[in-house]
Amino acid sequence: MGMLEDFELLKRHRFRLLPYGWARTKTEAHLIAKSLGYPVALKIISDEISHKTDVGGVKIGLKNDQSLSLAYDEIMENARLATGNGKPIRGVLVQKMARKGIELIIGGKKDSQFGHMIILGLGGVYVEIFRDISARLCPISEKDVEDMIDELKSHPLIEGARGQKGINVAGLKELMLSTCRMMEKEDVKELDLNPVIFDSNGYDIVDARIMK
Ligand SMILES: Nc1ncnc2c1ncn2[C@@H]1O[C@H](COP(=O)(O)OP(=O)(O)O)[C@@H](O)[C@H]1O
Ligand SMILES: [Mg+2]
Repeated sequence: MGMLEDFELLKRHRFRLLPYGWARTKTEAHLIAKSLGYPVALKIISDEISHKTDVGGVKIGLKNDQSLSLAYDEIMENARLATGNGKPIRGVLVQKMARKGIELIIGGKKDSQFGHMIILGLGGVYVEIFRDISARLCPISEKDVEDMIDELKSHPLIEGARGQKGINVAGLKELMLSTCRMMEKEDVKELDLNPVIFDSNGYDIVDARIMK
């Protein structure tokens, strides 16, 4: 499935995604940015591009019409280079900027023998660098989520250290329990919510990829 369909599936299951709109033209991008309110992020939408940053398909912190215009042109140019031609480009995602906070990844997959499992880890660029993740079989309890946090090397970051507030653990529990439920109900093969950005008040789901 493409990014837009992945987002729709999550919305049907009452996941609260960071507000966004799908723009097919630059004019539409401006209209969406205006209705969402600056600053916004801009991302390429193409079924041939799953790692958008790798091809120069993501621009964040756009503060006004002018920077949106420039970012739009750059992303489109980069995407044309990456896909060889313009065909598979469906447009751009205009998305509100997320809160500042800690980027986590919530992942999942279906094991042919054991069924659905869920993973938690430090997200964004750190996933590959630290490989700091914990995992459980679905369904999970709130206590499982607490244990999964404790098992991470980065748990001081998540729980709060050195004057930094920790993350909203209640929000993480709710999100992880819903993720297990959704994966089992929809029989999802693989899922990545990466990143979900947490602060002490809540979280923003920024990016998602689902394989059915
Ligand atoms: N709306 C946003 N607000 C804040 N940061 C963002 C936003 N969108 C993307 N980012 C940052 O850019 C990174 C890459 O964006 P993402 O949508 O995850 O694309 P991809 O994983 O396909 O490269 C994210 O991990 C995050 O750090
Ligand atoms: Mg991502």
